[in-house]
Amino acid sequence: MISAIYDRRSIRKFLHKPISREDLTGIIQSGIKAPSSKNRQPWKYIVIQGTAKEEMLNAFRRGIEREENGIALLPQSRQHIAAAKYTVDIMAEAPVVVFVTNSLGKGIFAELTLEERVYEICNIQSVSASIQNMLLAAAEKGIGSLWICDIYFAYEELCQWLDCDGELIAAVAFGYPDECPRERPRKGLDDVVSWRS
Ligand SMILES: Cc1cc2nc3c(=O)[nH]c(=O)nc-3n(C[C@H](O)[C@H](O)[C@H](O)COP(=O)(O)O)c2cc1C
Repeated sequence: MISAIYDRRSIRKFLHKPISREDLTGIIQSGIKAPSSKNRQPWKYIVIQGTAKEEMLNAFRRGIEREENGIALLPQSRQHIAAAKYTVDIMAEAPVVVFVTNSLGKGIFAELTLEERVYEICNIQSVSASIQNMLLAAAEKGIGSLWICDIYFAYEELCQWLDCDGELIAAVAFGYPDECPRERPRKGLDDVVSWRS
């Protein structure tokens, strides 16, 4: 497990080699093993492959087009649109994309009371733990992954296409790596830890 933590990288180039159903199921099972707030297990997973992936990418591209030339929902993030287009290209090459939702979520447009917000934050942390478990399980099987939040540039379009309950949290692209990236820089311990006793 420790070597999966240390060796995992975000993979942005994938081989055209399918992932077996058994491996995919194993990865998602690891996601389901994550801890969750009050054991609510708010996660749901939508596995996208084949022609469904093409339809999903069209929805994603429509969203980016709207964000660029229509009504932008994230106007202050314009400088990240080029990166989002690159993310779409990566997803197009990945054999599998898994969307992960918070089935108990009210959605990013909902106005929440303080209590509802805390509930939402706890559920999103639980879903994130599940995603990280999947990334590590994939790494252990030699399968690469990319955690994707550029989906927020096409949030409405993707939610409409996915037709899912709750709140979409992230997508994860999976595939056998066609690159071997070096470790990306990390802040030092001294920058992020304060010891108190
Ligand atoms: C919440 C989250 C969202 C991310 N969204 C994207 C994304 O949309 N596109 C992308 O290329 N990478 C995305 N990444 C990958 C990060 O860029 C990557 O984790 C970071 O640069 C560190 O690199 P490493 O994963 O190889 O250690 C995301 C990662 C996280 C945790």
